[in-house]
Amino acid sequence: MTPVRTAVVTGGASGIGRAIARRLAADGLRVAVFDIAPGETGDALTVDVCDRAQVDKAMATVRERYGPVSVLVNAAGKDGFTRFSDLPFEEWRRIVDINLNGVFHCVQSVLPDMWEGRWGRIVNISSSSTHSGQPFMAHYVAAKSAVNGLTKALALELGPRGITVNAVPPGFIDTPMLRTAEHEGRLGGSIEEHIDRTPVRRVGRPEDIAATCAFLVSEEAGYITGQIIGVNGGRNT
Ligand SMILES: NC(=O)c1ccc[n+]([C@@H]2O[C@H](COP(=O)([O-])OP(=O)(O)OC[C@H]3O[C@@H](n4cnc5c(N)ncnc54)[C@H](O)[C@@H]3O)[C@@H](O)[C@H]2O)c1
Repeated sequence: MTPVRTAVVTGGASGIGRAIARRLAADGLRVAVFDIAPGETGDALTVDVCDRAQVDKAMATVRERYGPVSVLVNAAGKDGFTRFSDLPFEEWRRIVDINLNGVFHCVQSVLPDMWEGRWGRIVNISSSSTHSGQPFMAHYVAAKSAVNGLTKALALELGPRGITVNAVPPGFIDTPMLRTAEHEGRLGGSIEEHIDRTPVRRVGRPEDIAATCAFLVSEEAGYITGQIIGVNGGRNT
């Protein structure tokens, strides 16, 4: 029988992360959420993923409550929209910190549990902008592309220990992040106009990403690692 697994989902207070936390809980995992915003799914801990001390402390709390953590989904993220020539280094650094360094901290913090247990599943939520590029989002695209690269390197390093590492780059998913981008005129058209340009003719749902994650963290996905699995309605192939 498969043991009850403990999962940490970062960014689980909103949008994609929240849908992932809900889905993993529905699938029977014990779920802890790390987010700077208050969460409502699973065991919600207030954690800034950029702060290693906070991450380690929260990981220790989860370990104490539920035992070793064997599933990690990194969904915390923040976008940014500034012309590169005007991009202050501070903003560049902040976006890299949240989207890339946060993944570094959470993976390194959880790793002893997975290493010891010789079993682990890590899923990193990157972005379809890593396929397509995106003007005025150089910092975000660079950070998310680095997450894809980190995913591949870690897959090779951790595979022999039974730990898989994959990335899911979402595209055009209906969350507060997407709605804000539409509201601020940053989408290059409305969501309705984008639906017409999307092969499956609908906007993505957070549950589409959650379903992919649910499979990737399952026992039967053990032969899939180092992959970048696009979930984008066919907008990027
Ligand atoms: N919505 C899309 O179409 C889309 C497309 C590509 C990539 N993504 C990525 O998917 C992930 C989820 O995005 P979403 O659309 O659900 O956005 P969202 O804004 O709804 O959720 C992001 C969550 O991350 C949390 N967060 C931000 N900074 C944090 C920090 N320092 N520490 C801990 N938590 C932090 C926020 O509080 C929020 O709850 C992000 O990594 C995002 O970059 C989304």
